[in-house]
Amino acid sequence: MNLDFSQLVPYIPFILEGIWATLKLAGISIIIGFILGTLLALCKITKLPLLKGFADAYTSMFRGTPLILQLMIIYFAIPQLTGYDISAFLSAVLAFGLNSAAYVSEIIRAGILAVDRGQTEAAEALGVPYKQMMINIILPQALKNILPALMNEFITLTKESAIVSVISYMDLMRRAQIVGSELYRNFEPLLFAGLIYWVMVFILTQIGRLIERRLRHSD
Ligand code: ARG
Repeated sequence: MNLDFSQLVPYIPFILEGIWATLKLAGISIIIGFILGTLLALCKITKLPLLKGFADAYTSMFRGTPLILQLMIIYFAIPQLTGYDISAFLSAVLAFGLNSAAYVSEIIRAGILAVDRGQTEAAEALGVPYKQMMINIILPQALKNILPALMNEFITLTKESAIVSVISYMDLMRRAQIVGSELYRNFEPLLFAGLIYWVMVFILTQIGRLIERRLRHSD
């Protein structure tokens, strides 16, 4: 077996810097995904066919095509169309945020529908306007139930973010590849990156469990 980690040591700080890049990407994307996803979920449960149709088509499109394709369209094709270059980071955040919104909208829609109907009926009986009912009564309850699912989405984004190496964004994955080609040894840096991803996901999973336990406790 031909494994030698000693050559990797000087590059470790360089690879570790990718953790921040990866988390920043996943963090901003989940915020975009959450805001857009909430709006889409509200569109999906309205009785207005146009909004519902739009939200359904949006979800179908973003879930029905590979994320890597969406990312490459935003990074390579939009500049061709508009004449403006777009940075790797902005493309990545847009692609991941827009993609995540499709998934998050389904999570939130299910969360809203799972809130007991009696809550809506009671609010309506008391004459609470729709917007207030949603913001103050329904969404907070829905959110509580879907927090674990949202945490899962964050974990998915953290791992999926590795595909940004195709547009040369310097995340964990890209850094490991660069070190690999510099050393003419790929196994060690890739293994190291794998270990870091695993630790990151492990920590996020623990945080998710903690949140879940807290929520169950407060029930
Ligand atoms: N590999 C999947 C795709 O290419 C990733 C989907 C992203 N998933 C998510 N929950 N945001 O379509």
